[in-house]
Amino acid sequence: MSQPQPTILVTGGAGYIGSHTVLALKDAGYNVVVLDNLIYGHRDLLEKVLQVEFVMGDTTDRTLLDRLFQTYDIAAVMHFAAYIFVGESVTDPAKYYRNNVTGTLTLLEAMHDASVDKFVFSSTCATYGIPQFMPLTEDHPQNPINPYGYSKLFVEQMLSDFDTAYDLKSVRFRYFNAAGADPQGRLGEDHNPETHLIPLVLQAALGIRKSISIFGTDYDTPDGTCVRDYIHVCDLAQAHVLGLKYLLKGGKSQAFNLGNGNGFSVKEVIEVARAVTECEIRVELSERRAGDTPVLVGSSEKARRVLGWQPQYADLRDIVAHAWQWHQTRHGSRS
Ligand SMILES: NC(=O)c1ccc[n+]([C@@H]2O[C@H](COP(=O)([O-])OP(=O)(O)OC[C@H]3O[C@@H](n4cnc5c(N)ncnc54)[C@H](O)[C@@H]3O)[C@@H](O)[C@H]2O)c1
Repeated sequence: MSQPQPTILVTGGAGYIGSHTVLALKDAGYNVVVLDNLIYGHRDLLEKVLQVEFVMGDTTDRTLLDRLFQTYDIAAVMHFAAYIFVGESVTDPAKYYRNNVTGTLTLLEAMHDASVDKFVFSSTCATYGIPQFMPLTEDHPQNPINPYGYSKLFVEQMLSDFDTAYDLKSVRFRYFNAAGADPQGRLGEDHNPETHLIPLVLQAALGIRKSISIFGTDYDTPDGTCVRDYIHVCDLAQAHVLGLKYLLKGGKSQAFNLGNGNGFSVKEVIEVARAVTECEIRVELSERRAGDTPVLVGSSEKARRVLGWQPQYADLRDIVAHAWQWHQTRHGSRS
């Protein structure tokens, strides 16, 4: 008889990247329990698409976490739950440190007491701060320039210390810009407020917003606009399945960049969106924003080498086309 597959706790599984990863875990045969407070997650997707065990609650609720670890035989935790808005983290850092740092510490303590010792963490390229060289590799110094980045760096430090003291093994994934959507159109990006470029551009294509602002056109880049590394959300999800397998096989704690390795400028993204959507997308040129670096591109060579990760959707056209399919079904009726 085949062994039953382990059960994985996914915090933030009703959000953008978490929900795509839940589908990838299910496809790989794992049992999944989602913990989400639904502050930003989507109940309708849990019910209609994900169809896994769902616990409504908060990572800061220690009593709930203890009950959860007693109820389910959890082999590992994937931790997506966090607040993600860089600007808000500057104006309300307490909110970010409470949720992203204290919430994670509470979760790690509950795991330790329940003898669960494998953890996959959603970190970010924002922990690197201003790039000193490009592409960014995992050994680039980590000097965040905002509280969001610090909240993730503090957790990375906690994970290193929990490994030393309690043998808790972790994979820390530093994502670049997650983008795209499930190619079958079941899931996609639906943040509110939305701050990410591709969904904002597609909202402009749908007429939900009047135009898209380009912040800065005089950067030292080929077309003067900022260059970013967009990684398809399904490629991120696959990396999580591989990171989990790596830990379950006894892998040591490590950090991995997850990016496309190719940079695309704001103007390039808008041009590709015009071609994919065949819609008018109005542009407003604005001043540079404080804190934006001209180019942010990562090397994910380590994830490819150690985990055997092979991104499937490196082409920006695929990323935008999948996002467009999702946006039309999710928001098309509003236009
Ligand atoms: N989206 C990106 O481009 C990107 C880039 C780098 C890192 N990340 C990280 O990836 C993770 C997921 O990002 P996302 O874009 O899917 O965000 P998201 O907001 O769509 O998902 C986060 C989910 O966590 C839930 N949540 C938040 N705090 C919670 C708490 N205390 N307890 C329970 N549930 C809670 C929210 O309701 C939401 O469903 C985050 O940790 C984020 O920092 C995202």
